[in-house]
Amino acid sequence: MKRHVKGNVSWVGYLDWELEHFHGDDYSIYNGSSQNAYLIEEEKTVLVDTVWVPHRFDFIENLKKEIDLKRIDAIVVNHGETDHSGALAALLEEIPDTPLYCTAMAVKSLEGQYGKRGWNFHVVKTGDELPVGHGKKLQFIEMRMLHWPDSMATFLTGDNILFSMDAFGQHYATSELFADLADQEILWHEALKYFVNILHPFAALIPRKLDEIAAMSLPIEVIAPSHGAVWREQPLEIVQKYREWSQTYQEDQVTIVYDTMWDGTKAIAHAIAEAVKQQSPSTVVKVFHIAKSDKNEVMTEIFKSRAIALGSPTYLNGVLASVSGWLAFLKPLKFKKKRAAAFGCYGWSGEGVKVLQDGLAAAGFDVIDEQVKSLWNPDENDFAKVPELVKSLLEDSPAAKQ
Ligand code: FEO
Repeated sequence: MKRHVKGNVSWVGYLDWELEHFHGDDYSIYNGSSQNAYLIEEEKTVLVDTVWVPHRFDFIENLKKEIDLKRIDAIVVNHGETDHSGALAALLEEIPDTPLYCTAMAVKSLEGQYGKRGWNFHVVKTGDELPVGHGKKLQFIEMRMLHWPDSMATFLTGDNILFSMDAFGQHYATSELFADLADQEILWHEALKYFVNILHPFAALIPRKLDEIAAMSLPIEVIAPSHGAVWREQPLEIVQKYREWSQTYQEDQVTIVYDTMWDGTKAIAHAIAEAVKQQSPSTVVKVFHIAKSDKNEVMTEIFKSRAIALGSPTYLNGVLASVSGWLAFLKPLKFKKKRAAAFGCYGWSGEGVKVLQDGLAAAGFDVIDEQVKSLWNPDENDFAKVPELVKSLLEDSPAAKQ
């Protein structure tokens, strides 16, 4: 069923209540998601994006209930990733010559995934326009690396809707369609989790791109992303959040992440948590046993933190796989200006803490010298080192002072 967005624009996407993972199993989903597609019915009828492959036939059947497919004059493909392009092949079987408006990189993506099928591509770049009638037009804006090389956004003049693609989205299924009607706690948590886990690797590009869009003086009244709720009341609030989040954001929080073999490293983790609370009662402290925690949710907590502590026992001259795997995910997210400490138990060779320190430094953290490295189980001498470690952890990062 199509849902009215504004003017002659409707949502015609797929509300994916059951989705549990995204990007394979790399991103956890607890509140469903949606693949948003939009139908513009002016003098010209334009479809903006489609849905993921498994839902392509539902999508096309639903679209047929709303319009004769032959009325579609153009399809805007803001992004080639399969969660938005997945219905194109089946749709173009029915309307084969329909022009597709997309970036040059999107042609590569689409032909790479679906083969060279002779689709009627019209390559566009920032500043190109497509009139849709009634005095309105589509303006295309390349969004390279937000979040893939082919991404773009499309602005509909008159109704002033920015179809922003993945940017400003959330993995959140809401029957209410609009952000102002959705559950605010879930909405903002999902918007942040999405930003941290999907967009933060490209955070350095975001302020420049937002400046570029601001310089276009687009009178944005609605932001219609490709996942989750549509922003129509104070649509620039999420834009401002992206600006804040992309500039070394942090709250007064310390997050402790660990795995443990015989509970010694766990005891140090808890001692660090206790010491943070003693030294800085207003600081929020969170502790995660990483082998039993959701890595995407933990990353969201790391993003909010001013400092972190990471612990693992030494295992086979390194650290436990749950921790090394998590470190491998941490590095490309490119967090900056956060302090970090390492801790852990060992029985024989004892390389674990050094491995953690090196891994944290490689991930861009300001690693402090203080550590708690405990032979067998932590004793009073080891616990006595915790306050000094925490004192250093709570200092401003040297980089944060710049
Ligand atoms: Fe929602 Fe980059 O796909």
